[in-house]
Amino acid sequence: SRSINLAVIPGDGIGQEVVAQGLKVLSAVLPQDVKLETREFDFGARRYRATGETLTDADLDALKKHDAILLGAIGDPSVPSGVLERGFLLKLRFAFDHHVNLRPSRLLPGVATPLAGQPAIDFVVVREGTEGPYTGNGGTIRQGTPHAVATEVSLNTAFGIERVVRDAYARAQARPRKKLALVHKNNVLVHAGHLWTDIFNKVGEEFPDVTTEYMHVDAATIYLVTQPERFDVIVTDNLFGDIITDLAAAVSGGIGVAASGNINPAGEYPSMFEPVHGSAPDIAGQGKADPSATVLSVALLLRHLGYESEAARIEDAVTADLAERGTTTRTTDEIGDALAVRVAG
Ligand code: IPM
Ligand code: MN
Repeated sequence: SRSINLAVIPGDGIGQEVVAQGLKVLSAVLPQDVKLETREFDFGARRYRATGETLTDADLDALKKHDAILLGAIGDPSVPSGVLERGFLLKLRFAFDHHVNLRPSRLLPGVATPLAGQPAIDFVVVREGTEGPYTGNGGTIRQGTPHAVATEVSLNTAFGIERVVRDAYARAQARPRKKLALVHKNNVLVHAGHLWTDIFNKVGEEFPDVTTEYMHVDAATIYLVTQPERFDVIVTDNLFGDIITDLAAAVSGGIGVAASGNINPAGEYPSMFEPVHGSAPDIAGQGKADPSATVLSVALLLRHLGYESEAARIEDAVTADLAERGTTTRTTDEIGDALAVRVAG
């Protein structure tokens, strides 16, 4: 019989509340014969304050034994900025080689966008997750003097670019519109930019039915606001992807509904699924957080593990819930309950 062995990291702030709803919906959608086993991990600010640890080798070994990881959110004002970001989140993405950072954007019916005319937004950003300026390459000399110099070196390997570009082509090919845009800045970042462009064009020969375009990242921010419907799949580097996916979330209903997957496509390590939003300590514990982004992340998780129809049922449930939501105010728990009822029915 089938089973899912899931590592659960609620984390900080609203992470606890939204993950509880994600698990509720997951249990409701799974068929009887699928055995769901979960193990909860206490990573985050509380553990860091108590032990000084963010993510140890032993933690990584324990996480590695799972089929996938569901993460709520990590971060708290009591921990200096950067400690948990680097010491937990980025460490995990790098250790488990999460090189495909998948961030879909869909403007669902009934969801408000700051854009005029309710455009049909349905695209996915494939953000490279293990290279670029995120590797920590660089340093500061003459620190603390007026002559300080800081470098932050972007690392781009042919291996790393090719695998994420190929993944993006395959995703584009599987979608009805079959369009792929490379977003970079190859007029200025000529070294990395040309490597990306060359590999993008070369790999494209294997996908003749995919329509491609190249776009500078600054131009992409304009089009994401003025013509978001033109995008289907976007592939881009780690930092550009970080920035444009926040913009993408903002135009397609906000971070309340933005889901993401940190994926190791070959399954050498468990992939991790998380809402794009943070721990929101200002509203934590009040039942005000929208669990939809976490629930949609559970759908990405299920799709990654091969449970396509269950993933689709969750997405349909969230779509229907948002469409009928109107101006009613419900608690985090009530939204989770409503979604669990929908996926079960
Ligand atoms: C994200 C976040 C992280 C990133 C931070 C918290 C390190 O902004 O998941 O987009 O920059 O990747
Ligand atoms: Mn970000």
